[in-house]
Amino acid sequence: MSFHLQPMPPHRPNRCQLFGPASRTALFEKMAASRADVINIDLEDSVAPSDKVSARKNAISAINEINWGNKTLSVRINGLDTSYWYRDVVDLVEKTDGRLDQIMIPKAGNAKDIYAVDALVSSIESSRGITKSLNFEAIIETAAGLVNVNEIASSSSRMKALSLGAADFAASMGMQTTGIGGTQSNYYMIENGEVDSERNIYFSDPWHSVTTSIVAACRTYGLLPIDGPFGDFSDDAGFRAQALRSATLGMVGKWAIHPKQVALANEVFTPSAEAVKEAKEILLAMEEAKNSGEGATVYKGRLVDIASIKQAEVIVRQAELMLE
Ligand code: COA
Ligand code: MG
Repeated sequence: MSFHLQPMPPHRPNRCQLFGPASRTALFEKMAASRADVINIDLEDSVAPSDKVSARKNAISAINEINWGNKTLSVRINGLDTSYWYRDVVDLVEKTDGRLDQIMIPKAGNAKDIYAVDALVSSIESSRGITKSLNFEAIIETAAGLVNVNEIASSSSRMKALSLGAADFAASMGMQTTGIGGTQSNYYMIENGEVDSERNIYFSDPWHSVTTSIVAACRTYGLLPIDGPFGDFSDDAGFRAQALRSATLGMVGKWAIHPKQVALANEVFTPSAEAVKEAKEILLAMEEAKNSGEGATVYKGRLVDIASIKQAEVIVRQAELMLE
């Protein structure tokens, strides 16, 4: 272990982030009543340019007027390459009554993007005497975002989470796909065998590399790594498979772009009773091993050692978070 200990991420559940366009006001009450841990009201790409100004007003009224319970409440602002973002930030900070928890910065390309928003928010908060400090989350969804993911993660103490935005990422990277996340039919391995024989194909994960980069940056700097949208909301099995891969790689939650995806995300990112039971048994086995002076022991026919304690603690900690 390096001299610096890995910081803990924010202590709150983030299994599902439910999105809804700020131009569809009829969705707000439904979003508030959902089982999502985080709500993202969107001012960016689900809102048409002609609706940007009215959508911003809708978002501000919704933040102030709707009972969002104990959910983390976030607004996705427009990108820094647009003429909308500064007004999004100014109005959200000046015209909301303290209920807003964070803003999501899309298409983050480097630490200076975050610095610019931080400077603006800090100036408004101090001039207005606002004591609740607004948090940030950002989307890694460009080639530059991936290249600079570590400096983005460490850019500001306001930063709490990073999400993977698969569609914009694919476009920025020049990937030949129009799917939003999930398995891509042209991304496969073919088994060795006779050239003319029928050979099995195995699908690989084109999001693997950027996912692990986001997870590593988040874990290094104490942020929550989140998987972004899965576009085909009629494909539950596809969503589940994508979410399971992300969870296995260390992500703690996933976006929902339709209410039917909320329960799927909650199920995948809540450790099962069986997994928690096994983790607790491993901790017990290691406690007994420690008491008899051993650093390693056998649990259900397999080796467990001091690293297993940390792995088991991740699961137990995650489960405890859901009960609070
Ligand atoms: N949050 C809460 N409720 C939602 C919802 C959402 N994001 N999307 C749809 N619903 C509601 C509908 O109002 C409808 O409710 P009802 O049964 O009371 O009538 C129900 O869920 C079923 O909706 P459905 O008809 O299947 O969907 P739709 O055609 O109205 O909308 C989308 C489909 C994809 C356009 C819509 O879900 C949406 O806008 N999603 C978010 C997109 C977004 O924010 N993208 C940015 C991030 S990638
Ligand atoms: Mg995007």
